[in-house]
Amino acid sequence: MENIPRVLQDAPAHIGIIMDGNGRWAKQRGLVRTQGHLEGLKAAKRITQAASDLGIKYLTLYTFSTENWKRTAEEVSFIMGLIRQYLRSELDFSRRNKIRVRLAGDINGLPEEVQKDLNQTVSDTKEFKGMQVILAVNYGGRDEIVRAMRRFAYDKCASGGCSTVCDTINNIREDDISAFLDNPDIPDPDLIIRSAGEYRTSNFLLWEGAYSELYISQKYWPDWEKEDLNTAIAEFKKRDRRYGGTASDAA
Ligand code: IPE
Ligand code: IPE
Ligand code: MG
Repeated sequence: MENIPRVLQDAPAHIGIIMDGNGRWAKQRGLVRTQGHLEGLKAAKRITQAASDLGIKYLTLYTFSTENWKRTAEEVSFIMGLIRQYLRSELDFSRRNKIRVRLAGDINGLPEEVQKDLNQTVSDTKEFKGMQVILAVNYGGRDEIVRAMRRFAYDKCASGGCSTVCDTINNIREDDISAFLDNPDIPDPDLIIRSAGEYRTSNFLLWEGAYSELYISQKYWPDWEKEDLNTAIAEFKKRDRRYGGTASDAA
């Protein structure tokens, strides 16, 4: 019998990308790490365009983690500058493609001018109905869950008084936490892509990614082209998402 691969899934509605390998890409070429970040930015633009053309609804880009502050001050400030450059240079692109930019992460922990540019872009694009690009900046999955719990507690205090909080926490449900995450209306990522061959989440979308399909690419992020996105999506379509149940073709 001919071995025809099963196509089980529709295209993913939400893709998250851990854009990794900028530093190694630069090192491989005898360049400084910042040069890798510059090329990584170009790759982010290419892949955003490709995802928008494919009709992907949500694209979350892991841009700067809560752990990335461990890097040198020079590298961190270069990345912050690149984020600002990305926001400014992409506004026309966003307008043309009706891309809405949103944020995930503890934005208050960023330098003021970066916060200002991020908030400006969010506001400039908020009516656009095309793909939503979620920039995860100063983002950590654990931090997001902690902040969600704080918001939950604050909300309960405000509505019912602090004495009810213990009771509420005793009865907390998963939905209560989901409701206070950074973007509760956005569906969980169907597919999480990681470039540069590391087999770990590095604190990306810990809650939302519980049942995401993972795709690891050996290519460094600056080398990513639209064909790589097509390959990842084609691979995703062959996956059998069981969510703890049985295989779709189980007897
Ligand atoms: C990803 O590339 C970019 C950020 C984490 C900001 P890296 O800078 O982590 O590149 P490698 O992993 O050192 O190659
Ligand atoms: C994850 O990459 C963070 C981003 C891509 C923004 P890292 O390079 O920081 O992850 P580790 O250190 O390899 O786990
Ligand atoms: Mg890395």
